[in-house]
Amino acid sequence: MKVMKKIAKLLLLLFIAIQFFRPEKNTNQGNHLASFITETNPPENVKTILTNSCYDCHSNNTEYPWYNNIAPVSWWLSNHIKDAKADLNLSDWDSYGKRQKEHKLEEVIEAVDAGEMPLRQYIWFHPDAKLSREQSEAILEWARRTKVLYGLGPQPR
Ligand code: HEC
Repeated sequence: MKVMKKIAKLLLLLFIAIQFFRPEKNTNQGNHLASFITETNPPENVKTILTNSCYDCHSNNTEYPWYNNIAPVSWWLSNHIKDAKADLNLSDWDSYGKRQKEHKLEEVIEAVDAGEMPLRQYIWFHPDAKLSREQSEAILEWARRTKVLYGLGPQPR
């Protein structure tokens, strides 16, 4: 029993100690999605879907849940966001060339079509983010139509 108590105390101390290590937050109050929205012109329903299901990980602004204040959850979320943005950051749309944009949209089509996005773990905590069949169709329709635009004409990059 004594040993168990000691271990419990140690774990508690460890838990308190890690709270001091807070990852930097992914927040941006500016108009960071302006160029993406202007260029790809998603209809209102697709805009809503992207807001509810994608931007938390694939943009420069995350709406954090309260439990992000708790380590190690905060570390876990921070890593997901970093990985997601490395693959696709919609706030950085301008930084992609024409070919890359076409390719990113192709990846969106593949990920949504396969039901891989949003991440399953995200849906556990944000059930509303789960895409219905109609929502998936709406994203696919918009992404396919928009992708074609980037495929047209000469390919500068
Ligand atoms: C909880 C965070 C999270 C959410 C929400 C999320 N993603 Fe992702 N996404 C990731 C991570 C992490 C990766 C990179 C690792 C991987 O492929 O699993 C990724 C990768 C991607 C990729 C790159 C290709 C691929 O499959 O690896 C695309 C495209 C993508 N996501 C699209 C979307 C779309 C579209 C939505 C909204 C419908 C979305 N994601 C929602 C975390 C997220």
